[in-house]
Amino acid sequence: MKLLVVGGGGREHALVWKFKSSPLVQEIVCAPGNPGTAKLARNVDIAVGDVARLVELAQKERPDLVVIGPEEPLVLGLADRLRALGLRVFGPGARGARIEGSKLYAKEILERHRIPTGGYKRFDRAGVAKSYLESCKYWPQVVKADGLAAGKGVFVCQDAREACAVVDTLMEQKKLGAAGDQIVIEEFLEGQEVSVLSITDGRGLLILEPAIDHKQVGDGDSGPNTGGMGVLSPAPWVTRRLMRQIESRVLLPTLHALTIEEVEFRGLLYAGLMVNDGGPRVLEFNCRFGDPETQVLVRRFKSDLVPYLVAAADGKLAELEPPEWESRVCVGVVMCAEGYPGEYRKGDPILGLEKIEQLPDVVAFVAGAKQQGRALVTSGGRVLCVTALGRDVDEARARAYEACSLVRWQGAFWRKDIGLRREKAQAEVLGAAGEPED
Ligand code: AMP
Ligand code: GLY
Repeated sequence: MKLLVVGGGGREHALVWKFKSSPLVQEIVCAPGNPGTAKLARNVDIAVGDVARLVELAQKERPDLVVIGPEEPLVLGLADRLRALGLRVFGPGARGARIEGSKLYAKEILERHRIPTGGYKRFDRAGVAKSYLESCKYWPQVVKADGLAAGKGVFVCQDAREACAVVDTLMEQKKLGAAGDQIVIEEFLEGQEVSVLSITDGRGLLILEPAIDHKQVGDGDSGPNTGGMGVLSPAPWVTRRLMRQIESRVLLPTLHALTIEEVEFRGLLYAGLMVNDGGPRVLEFNCRFGDPETQVLVRRFKSDLVPYLVAAADGKLAELEPPEWESRVCVGVVMCAEGYPGEYRKGDPILGLEKIEQLPDVVAFVAGAKQQGRALVTSGGRVLCVTALGRDVDEARARAYEACSLVRWQGAFWRKDIGLRREKAQAEVLGAAGEPED
């Protein structure tokens, strides 16, 4: 088979790495790819938002399967355009992608179909939003831009002054452009977060093992939100019982809701959930593989991933047996450029990456880096995701952090507490859901 993978981040490097191990795959084209995918695939330099040129490329290459990584081309309707050409595509069309592209749309679906989530209000005028905030009795409140914001459109605000300032930045100064034309103000949910990704053909679901992202930039979950600073899979506190609740209360009802709303969804449905003793509640949906969740999930997905994506694209997921999973734990640490998630340094040479390649059970995925002559230099905020397998969280962490210490560039930083959050605290928070397996 020939595969076309759209995207150029750590997630796409991880997907291409996994696809490369499939005996079904002869050739992989990646647009635009990055220096990591360049070693495994043929990169073609087309930006992920350039739908017209991506369509042209697909027409020329005629791949047996197209896998679309990022949300932007999905929201722009790339999957629809490719399907109209008779190509096999893993990824929802524009209507399905709205579940991520518009927080309001996602909230409306959740509300209409009584899927558990936080209470919310929508606003399209700054003045009205601010009056509402001034009248709020309970804090924190969460202010969210409606549109796509690369993980940077969500603000947990401690008081009305802070929240009103966010409203001004989004709705008056338009810091996120049209994404902030409308906003959602949401009830703050307490608990523990988990990402549950599922492969779907629109009829059935293959639920992947859980992953725990670490969204805030600083240790101890401090500072602003980012695209994801590190990830752990699985987590001891996410029990089979909790996974069954997530399936029956969230994922299956969401799939059902999409069917009722006549939205065909063949791709990856990602639920970001907050869990406490009241069970799981939805924080967000994504219409694609999570980043950096994918980097650890591909390390633990032992079966060939390609047949599952093909089956989802063909509407035949039910025909496949469940996949095999690696029982070991995987920790992924995201190494960032100085300044991220704000303005960050670029162009710094990355040294020592080849040393990681020698380490057993460690794989580093490239995200924000580019080749400059013979040097690899930083080009994004999240530069690398260093993943390691271990018998338990401690061993996986030790391996991942040892690997991080071998790589250097000016201003590199990373969280030191990936995978550490929780256990005891989580058992307390989770109450019933955290009880031993039945
Ligand atoms: P989202 O992009 O909606 O997942 O939001 C990004 C992050 O903000 C989440 O991963 C949570 O850490 C946090 N967050 C979002 N909504 C809420 C909420 N209602 N209550 C508490 N934290 C939230
Ligand atoms: N890890 C969060 C995301 O992919 O949006």
